[in-house]
Amino acid sequence: MNEIYDMKQEISRRRTFAIISHPDAGKTTITEKLLLYGGAIHLAGTVKGRKASKHATSDWMEIEKQRGISVTSSAMQFEYEGFCINILDTPGHQDFSEDTYRTLCAADCAVMLIDGAKGVEAQTIKLFTVCRMRGIPIFTFVNKMDRASKHPFDLLDEIEKVLGIHSAPMNWPIGTDGNFKGVYDRQKKQVQLFDQKGGHHGAKKVGMLSLTPDSPELADHIGSHYQQLLASDIELLDIAGNPFDTTQFLNGEITPVFFGSAITNFGVETFLQYFLGMAPPPAARKAGGEMIAPDSDFFSGFVFKIQANMNPDHRDRMAFIRICSGKYEKGLQVDLALSGKSVKLTQPQQFMAQDRTIVEQAYAGDIIGVFDPGIFRIGESMASGGRKLQFESIPVFPPEHFARIYVKDSMKRKQFLKGIEQLALEGAVQLYKQPDIGTETYIAGVVGVLQFEVLEYRLKAEYNVEVTMSRLNYKLARWVRFKDASFARDLKDLTLTSTSLPVLDSSSSPVVLFESLWAIDWALERNKGLIFDEISEQSFRD
Ligand code: G4P
Repeated sequence: MNEIYDMKQEISRRRTFAIISHPDAGKTTITEKLLLYGGAIHLAGTVKGRKASKHATSDWMEIEKQRGISVTSSAMQFEYEGFCINILDTPGHQDFSEDTYRTLCAADCAVMLIDGAKGVEAQTIKLFTVCRMRGIPIFTFVNKMDRASKHPFDLLDEIEKVLGIHSAPMNWPIGTDGNFKGVYDRQKKQVQLFDQKGGHHGAKKVGMLSLTPDSPELADHIGSHYQQLLASDIELLDIAGNPFDTTQFLNGEITPVFFGSAITNFGVETFLQYFLGMAPPPAARKAGGEMIAPDSDFFSGFVFKIQANMNPDHRDRMAFIRICSGKYEKGLQVDLALSGKSVKLTQPQQFMAQDRTIVEQAYAGDIIGVFDPGIFRIGESMASGGRKLQFESIPVFPPEHFARIYVKDSMKRKQFLKGIEQLALEGAVQLYKQPDIGTETYIAGVVGVLQFEVLEYRLKAEYNVEVTMSRLNYKLARWVRFKDASFARDLKDLTLTSTSLPVLDSSSSPVVLFESLWAIDWALERNKGLIFDEISEQSFRD
């Protein structure tokens, strides 16, 4: 009885989220600051030289190098005011890959980070689309308000128009013309003043001075010009702004918007407090026709990421599992749904902000990394107690870079096929075959271009196969479907531009590779009843 109560308590205090943003919006900085508030890093702050090297490695590996802490992981966990918070890493920059998208399938909500001067940028749109598809709640943090930014009304408009989600500002910035003064908290009806002196590059937690918007003392701090501007903005917001609605928020239809400055810590702790009050705990997840409640009396979860060679001394591979229900305890035996195998989860690791530790216990909402001797694959589900549960499949996301791969030494063809098929199963690349050409030639598709280097390197290091790659001009992949399912069509019957290429993906589903959006429209116009899917919802390579 007590144990069940404890488990429910543990699950209800978990909050698992990912930060989605375009490179340079400040994701690394805000992650550091959140960890600072969680007591995981006592002195956050930017370190000289970071700029030069950061594009080469994952964002978190960079924090790790600078801080001497171990965060190389898929998720970091920290405690704050009774909550247990899991932040999922969404690799950006060059290592932006399908993993970045898949990670969002393991999150219960997302924080969309926007650079106030730049607005909604390309990578944010892509990641937002995935969150939208899953219908998860999305918070917005508009960063870098300490500098001149776009007008906040224009930013809200951009969020609504570009992303198609309603926005509800929770606070309001004062002095967006480069004279940042602070924010007005619409709920508390208080102005929090920005203290430039307190920041020192935001190395420590900041205290805040709060005043009511009409107090005469406020004018002393921000000047009567900004006080008047604020008064008219507040009036306009109250009349014309979207009121925040919890149901719409939980359905992913409205995003609460916060303004702040991660580098100076301004607004980060307030955001964290609002976030914890609003973000949902782990919810039930669908497996077959059933909804699996997080506090079910059995363990279940799914693999959303497989990472090879985390430790270069041992050629190890880790599978990252999102726990969907119950409790994990050391040595737990689970059944895998896709492969039908029964396995003991050995040496699971969890990633605390300070250290990579072996976990004794973990709960629904948590991420654990387990040693993978080659039995896991992306989307694999597992459950304890002899249950065979398959959670909803992880979608296959559209690659944007394509290359034809050739094995250099034809004697090594067998290893090549083994290697490349294994890497595709791990989700490192997507493989396509041309239906009329033999199996030796593959086209590889990746989301981030760094993946080609990883592919080449791993084929050499792990399978002793050297390959050459010739980059192709395709930029878009679309899965082919017809409105009338009974109207079976052959790929070769499609009317396409001469530069579009019909291929089959690893599960033999028809795909067309295109060089431009124009070519997609051209094909849609000429093939009646044809539907192109940007994201494949079919089960992941089973
Ligand atoms: P990312 O992980 O999203 O790519 O962004 P990151 O945190 O690395 O931040 C990108 C740049 O933006 C960094 O500057 C960082 O200091 C700066 N930045 C982050 N938050 C804020 C903010 O609130 N205000 C301002 N003004 N700048 C911010 P950099 O020049 O690339 O590096 P550094 O020399 O500052 O270390």
